[in-house]
Amino acid sequence: MTTTGAVLQIFTLPYPLTVWFLVPPVTTSSYKSSNSTMHVKGNLPLESVEQFQPVEFNVSTNSIAKSASTTPVVEERAKATRRRRRRRKVKTKQTPDEPIVPPPPPRVVTAWQRYVWSLPPHEALMYARKEIENVSIVTEDPDLYAPLFRNISIFQRSYELMENILKVYIYQDGARPIFHEPHLNGIYASEGWFMKTIEENRQFVTRDPKKAHLFYLPYSARQLELALYVPDSHNIKPLSIFLRDYVNMLAAKYPYWNRTHGADHFLVACHDWGPYTLTEHEELTKNTIKALCNADSSEGIFVAGKDVSLPETTIRNPKKPLRDVGGKRVSQRPILAFFAGNMHGRVRPKLLQVWGDKDEDMRIYGPLPLRVSKKMSYVQHMKSSRFCICPMGYEVNSPRIVEAFYYECVPVIIADNFVLPFSEVLDWSAFSVVVAEKDIPNLKDILLAIPLRRYLNMQTNVKMLQKHFLWNPRPIRYDLFHMILHSIWYSRLNQIQLQQQ
Ligand SMILES: *[C@@H]1O[C@H](CO)[C@@H](O)[C@H](O)[C@H]1NC(C)=O
Ligand SMILES: *[C@@H]1O[C@H](CO)[C@@H](O)[C@H](O)[C@H]1NC(C)=O
Ligand SMILES: *[C@@H]1O[C@H](CO)[C@@H](O)[C@H](O)[C@H]1NC(C)=O
Ligand SMILES: *[C@@H]1O[C@H](CO)[C@@H](O)[C@H](O)[C@H]1NC(C)=O
Ligand SMILES: *[C@@H]1O[C@H](CO)[C@@H](O)[C@H](O)[C@H]1NC(C)=O
Repeated sequence: MTTTGAVLQIFTLPYPLTVWFLVPPVTTSSYKSSNSTMHVKGNLPLESVEQFQPVEFNVSTNSIAKSASTTPVVEERAKATRRRRRRRKVKTKQTPDEPIVPPPPPRVVTAWQRYVWSLPPHEALMYARKEIENVSIVTEDPDLYAPLFRNISIFQRSYELMENILKVYIYQDGARPIFHEPHLNGIYASEGWFMKTIEENRQFVTRDPKKAHLFYLPYSARQLELALYVPDSHNIKPLSIFLRDYVNMLAAKYPYWNRTHGADHFLVACHDWGPYTLTEHEELTKNTIKALCNADSSEGIFVAGKDVSLPETTIRNPKKPLRDVGGKRVSQRPILAFFAGNMHGRVRPKLLQVWGDKDEDMRIYGPLPLRVSKKMSYVQHMKSSRFCICPMGYEVNSPRIVEAFYYECVPVIIADNFVLPFSEVLDWSAFSVVVAEKDIPNLKDILLAIPLRRYLNMQTNVKMLQKHFLWNPRPIRYDLFHMILHSIWYSRLNQIQLQQQ
């Protein structure tokens, strides 16, 4: 920390600290409060997995699934599933009539595209930023639902510019399993799905770093834990030192890191420890764009407006990430509010203490008791409730938020200091309720005070939002992969100082 720290104090950051437009009004504590001895809250949960179901594999003969199945998936039940997988493979061989994905239609290159492609990386970013500031009003886009967005015109334009301009360079350095080995299931699946999807991507990836607008550090925070954390040591410093050395190696080997002191580099880490494993490297902590599930604005590491709040998605079956999506009509949702889960962190015990077993409308449990789950599963509960309570665990994020979207339940988020995913573009008040931790005793009154008409609007918005939170085996426009990439792109544009016209 001492040498890099000294370097950084001389060098002032390349991105403006004045906030551009639409950055959410979240107060952040000063950078200086972060330090390399940042301790970890709770009991260092090795796996805060809840409500897991057995993993099944579905290997089909179509090319997409095949490429996915060759991606190494490290997971505990590998042995048990391998046998099953082999059986399936035999079965699918007999039915090779899978739909063949048609080739994309030939793209007509416009004069405008030829112009933006001709721009060197920095000029292209300047151009994009100017275009967004001078956006004209979009009247209609069949693929986007305006009420979900803070400003649909800005999002639509920024996204279109990303599609036409953005190139990402992926460092090939770094050995498996920490690098280049996506972990596709469990509650930290977001980092793995992002890694897998971008490493397979052609549109946004360049092999020529001179053409790149962004540089991806292709590691998994989850794999870092599995590889380097000594169980019960309560010490994550070795993980942080490992990343420091990795970044110093890249900075010595290539000219790109030093050029911006890491500001055009990004990482995607969903593991709870994501932010704490960066602190041995000052530039990595402060300058790099960090897409983190643990988007806590109170710790001085995650900075709203610069960093990206990464959704936490529980993937139970990597071959069928979209399984179970959908929910019941509002009229078939008799339960007002539902929560079941382990008593991690500071909020959940309080929630249980106030609401556990007290009120028919408020189904608030610890781990779902057998007497209850025998009659109705966890997922059925979410599909039959009007509101799904998403209290923070050890850390601010919870996979329940995205689960609520999948099951068409309006999420109620209780996690002070949590910067909500994609809040630079999404209007969370349109599809969620945020309740302050101190208001837990008023929870029922707060929910009952929401007029039915407003609730119905929110629930419709939740359904319209689903596609933006889905991992598709083959990514499609505006899905979760693209939303994450867009937020990183948007953050990069946010750094660009417009030269005086
Ligand atoms: C680092 O931060 C922790 C918690 O924020 C604090 O207890 C500790 O004193 C700090 N250490 C240094 C060297 O600033
Ligand atoms: C595998 O997935 C395909 C397409 O999603 C589906 O049609 C098929 O029934 C599945 N097979 C098994 C054995 O689950
Ligand atoms: C802004 O957009 C308008 C119309 O779309 C155009 O005439 C004008 O030149 C643009 N201004 C800048 C600074 O690009
Ligand atoms: C969206 O942003 C543009 C450009 O700043 C602005 O002209 C427009 O009024 C905004 N629209 C809404 C709905 O806020
Ligand atoms: C980048 O800066 C670091 C620290 O000042 C230095 O050790 C390294 O050699 C530099 N890299 C290059 C490629 O010049």
